[in-house]
Amino acid sequence: MTSLENPSLQQLVKDARELFVKEFNAQPTVAAFAPGRVNLIGEHTDYNDGFVLPMALPLVTVVVGRPVDGNIASVTTTDPTVDEPRIAQFSVTQENLKPELPKWANYIKGVVALYPTQVQGFEAAYTSSVPVGGGLSSSAAMEVATYTFLEALTNKPNSSSTEKALICQKAEHEFAGMPCGIMDQFISVMGKEGHALLIDCMDNTSKDIPLNDPNLVILITNSNVKHELSGSEYPTRKKQCADAAKLLKKKSLRFATLDDIQTLENLKADPDIIKRARHVISEIKRTQDAAQVLRCKDYRKFGKLMIESHNSLRDDYEVSTPALDKLVEIACEIPGVYGSRMTGGGFGGCTVTLVTKDDVCKVIENVNSKYDKKASFYICVPSNGARWIGCF
Ligand code: GLA
Repeated sequence: MTSLENPSLQQLVKDARELFVKEFNAQPTVAAFAPGRVNLIGEHTDYNDGFVLPMALPLVTVVVGRPVDGNIASVTTTDPTVDEPRIAQFSVTQENLKPELPKWANYIKGVVALYPTQVQGFEAAYTSSVPVGGGLSSSAAMEVATYTFLEALTNKPNSSSTEKALICQKAEHEFAGMPCGIMDQFISVMGKEGHALLIDCMDNTSKDIPLNDPNLVILITNSNVKHELSGSEYPTRKKQCADAAKLLKKKSLRFATLDDIQTLENLKADPDIIKRARHVISEIKRTQDAAQVLRCKDYRKFGKLMIESHNSLRDDYEVSTPALDKLVEIACEIPGVYGSRMTGGGFGGCTVTLVTKDDVCKVIENVNSKYDKKASFYICVPSNGARWIGCF
């Protein structure tokens, strides 16, 4: 449980309650939230058994609701960008649940279907400060918020946080058709205030890395170019990585080294496969190095690794966009910037920039004057993972 110390969380709960009362003509009895995330480094490594270094955001998805008799769930959202209708009803009987329209409700259905026990009917209202399509894991926030809400509804906190993250990941695979890795759901469940998490995606263990220097700012810049990952690019990249590992006779690219790039070249592997492997192998190493220098508060070295990561995602993994490249370039013009890179799956979305507190305004001004679209900015501190907010 947590108190409502975060004012934006308080506002979100208020908005969700208002929507709930309007739609269901009753008061909600329970509430939960789950955060979005920003990944500091370690991109497209999670489905390669590698390392990632994300932190949970103060941007969250809130759900309020109450149990009702019977087996019907009625859910609604304040998000004006979702597909219509914005109120959806479905039977919670687990074996009958399948994805259908509206698409936004499938994240909720998936979690209800895969929840460890059959739940009873409920009414729920969602609201969120995680931008949709911004690459900050709005979908994982919705899944994990739903799971946490179901825990509150059944009054049974799940015994294992890892199992919770894995179930939410499965919901994304089966009900949203996006074959994601474990990073987003894991950090949304396990985020820790004042810390980034170094997650080893081979065994789903994690180490807390303190990140609470008052002179340092983590600035997220949204390119406002929508990011859509369930297209073919993500599964294609995933398959290319699996193909590279297979050619190298390794279980995954986690077990490969940069020397193996030569082996792939000798085997006359497809040039795209070689590039993808080079990104993943180098990014896994960069992420471990980055965690180490972050522990020592060596932000210069950390920033250099961020730039290398961006360049590798741009040139070898080919998931950046001209808008993201431009945002990184503009940010790096300011001397107080340690590093900047695209974050998340790519093909649009956000950049993350590490900058001194004194210079963050200069970065924002520079982007506003040189970026040819309208960017949005979020200054974020590492925040806690999902929680019940309490009962009303
Ligand atoms: C998306 C996926 C994650 C991860 C990132 C890239 O956010 O959901 O599992 O693969 O892309 O690092």
